Amino acid sequence: MEIQKQLKSHGAWVGKWTFILAATGSAVGLGNIWGFPYKAGTNGGGAFVLIYLGCILAIGLPIMVSEIVIGRRAGNSPVNAMRRVAVDSNTTPLWRFVGWSGIFAGVLILSFYSVIAGICLNYIFISATSSGALSATDQFSNVISSPLNLLFWHTVFMTLTALIVSAGIKDGIGRMVKILMPLLGMLMIFMVIYAMINGDFNKAMTFLFAPDFSNVTSDTLLQAMGQAFFSLGLGMGSIMAYGAYMPKDQSIVSNSFTVASLDTLVAIVAGIAIFPIIFAFSLEPNSGPGLVFVSMLSAFNQMQYGQFVGPLFFILLSVAALSSSISLLEPGVAYLSEEGILPRKRSAEIIAFVAWVLGIGSALSFNIWSDFHLISDRNFLDSMEFITNQVLLPLGGMFIAIFVGWFMKKSLITDEIGAMNPVLYMLWRFFVKFIAPLSVAYIFYRQFF
Ligand code: PHE
Repeated sequence: MEIQKQLKSHGAWVGKWTFILAATGSAVGLGNIWGFPYKAGTNGGGAFVLIYLGCILAIGLPIMVSEIVIGRRAGNSPVNAMRRVAVDSNTTPLWRFVGWSGIFAGVLILSFYSVIAGICLNYIFISATSSGALSATDQFSNVISSPLNLLFWHTVFMTLTALIVSAGIKDGIGRMVKILMPLLGMLMIFMVIYAMINGDFNKAMTFLFAPDFSNVTSDTLLQAMGQAFFSLGLGMGSIMAYGAYMPKDQSIVSNSFTVASLDTLVAIVAGIAIFPIIFAFSLEPNSGPGLVFVSMLSAFNQMQYGQFVGPLFFILLSVAALSSSISLLEPGVAYLSEEGILPRKRSAEIIAFVAWVLGIGSALSFNIWSDFHLISDRNFLDSMEFITNQVLLPLGGMFIAIFVGWFMKKSLITDEIGAMNPVLYMLWRFFVKFIAPLSVAYIFYRQFF
């Protein structure tokens, strides 16, 4: 009965590349260029990187395929997609709570994401005017010590996100990512070459790729897994929502593979661009969230034409962040608008406003609230990151894998997957049924029990 309800349609992506571009836009963002290097840095480098790669392959990729399978099958927002596919598979509509948890996680992530993206916007101007008189480390301290400054840029970024989502993501974003993402890729490669010539390249490569497992704790595992979920944008319905707009004639498996590869590549390239500079300038690899801002600004301060290359880098980083933030807002907005509860524009405004209010806590955690601890010794921003990356996303992903592996009707799955090498298909099934959910469960168990 319930599924007979008429839901508003969202339309489909136009063009062969639009899904890949939008999904890559969702995946590639601050998680790759801000998050990955600083987490690798605080977790000792190589071992973290290797575990991260393992998580992408064994957990992330199989779950990404699963999420898109559900999304495209239903053609709805994650809440309704989960419910619909569950009912079509003769199982309980309660699976929709996976969709709800996704909307919730999306709002929490967006709240702190916008604060960090706001810092990127601010750095467009800082890098254009920086003379190098002030060290990059001091510059970063200045930026984060002012609550008003952070709140201002947080507001700008959140407004931009809401505006794009209001307009309907297919028109705005499809066009934007097509030009700007490749440009970001090229600039990243330029930064790697710069770092190779001017930085301590050998030390950086050893740091990133020579694993030392002696310091690996259950926390390292959890952080690496959380980072994999976050970076691929999994476990909260973003890619499920995008999958809903994917034309039926496109291959889910090969598209997932492309998106996951590009995402991983950008994270690794970001690491290779940042760490040589960190080591050459005797900065601290484990300095935390300021890592990308401090290292890149140090490089631009030294570089000829740094006052042009710097702003370009931060503009592209901001665009990459924007193409991710809209995918955080989309599941909730798609739900409210397809149910006819609120028009798209109003939904975007309201959800963005809630995230904006929550984001104030993260902005203040850099200054006046720095001593306020929410979850054990974590400040507000770290707590938001912890709840989402390390709890909600892996949990959501685990349920998605269990659903597709054990509950979703086989014929519905094979319909979506289409023609595929049978060995590869069996392998994917095996990972979705066993490896992905058990790995998440194991890592949770080690950390929390
Ligand atoms: N993947 C994005 C990034 O790395 C963030 C994101 C998380 C997007 C979850 C969608 C869902 O920046």
